Amino acid sequence: RYEQNAELLNRLSECATYFQRQLIEHPHKEKAKSYLAKDRGLSGQIAKVYGLGFAPPGWDNVLKAVGKRAELQEQLLHGGMLIEKKENAGQYYDRFRDRIMFPIRDTRGRVIAFGGRAFGDEKPKYLNSPETPVFHKNLELYGLYEAKQNTTTLDHILVVEGYMDVIVLAQHGVTNSVATLGTSINSQHFKKLFKLVDKVTLCFDGDKAGRAAAIRGLEATLPVIQDGKQVRFLFLPDGEDPDSLIRKIGKDAFLELLDDSSSLAHVLFDHARSLVTLGDEEGEAQFTQHAMSLIQNIPKESTLRSLLVKQLADQSGLSSETLTANAPTPKPLYN
Ligand code: CTP
Ligand code: MN
Ligand code: MN
Ligand code: MN
Ligand code: MN
Repeated sequence: RYEQNAELLNRLSECATYFQRQLIEHPHKEKAKSYLAKDRGLSGQIAKVYGLGFAPPGWDNVLKAVGKRAELQEQLLHGGMLIEKKENAGQYYDRFRDRIMFPIRDTRGRVIAFGGRAFGDEKPKYLNSPETPVFHKNLELYGLYEAKQNTTTLDHILVVEGYMDVIVLAQHGVTNSVATLGTSINSQHFKKLFKLVDKVTLCFDGDKAGRAAAIRGLEATLPVIQDGKQVRFLFLPDGEDPDSLIRKIGKDAFLELLDDSSSLAHVLFDHARSLVTLGDEEGEAQFTQHAMSLIQNIPKESTLRSLLVKQLADQSGLSSETLTANAPTPKPLYN
């Protein structure tokens, strides 16, 4: 198994090299280069740091360049780079065609998967590698390897939504961001991040979907947060993502927004408040129960948990003991 995975990783690395080389050699390279430089404003240097490449149009480019023998094709198939023809078992075609390619690396820098962006409005806008023996998207974070490489003292990680957000932030000197891979951040992601840094800031769109994602992020961090760790929430102005925003306002203003991010307590209590449907004392009781149901997911031994209960006690005029005794059984959370 281990040796099979090592072979998959070799093929994926060869694919990354192939895609990168197409930006230099392919007859249609100008289309790809002008997309990166003109449409997205990326420097050649940052494209290199993130290993960006070009999957040319056509059904058998990777197949021919990397999968010359049947054994190699089999490995490319298991690595997610080829798809088996429905009508012809044992025959394959390229998964990624006519796209800008983003290699996804593990923390050791090995290419384990790809994301591919269409040039225009073709669907899907982003195509990602499927789950494979070496790629588990619920565990991986795009840009983590590069953040470790390019940030001298990595003590704070920003979690953003997309590939381009990570890269454009880095081009502006914010080299400590990572992105989930088309999924919400989960508890395993937080565990991985907390092993590396003490502070994690989640960046969300200012819209409704962004606020829903923030609640999922809150729920995912509660069971795994420990004293000494800090999670903050940054809500971006409506219609902006980190890519568009930092290009508009620049690095310093972006960092100022980060300083004004919301604390975990603030987001937790705001969320509990937003669930209240009743007026007067009934509403206060409802708020308190919602808040306690969230707080109870924080590890028992954590000081943060005691502090949040204390804060709720001060607000409600009830004792921490009463709140704890009356707390609802925690509901299963997103994690
Ligand atoms: N995503 C995906 N599949 C899609 C659309 C999005 O996997 N069809 C994931 C990608 O990881 C993408 C992230 O969700 O980077 C954020 O999506 P979105 O905000 O729509 O894209 P942007 O990153 O803003 O892409 P761009 O700026 O290139 O339009
Ligand atoms: Mn959005
Ligand atoms: Mn974008
Ligand atoms: Mn976006
Ligand atoms: Mn508020």
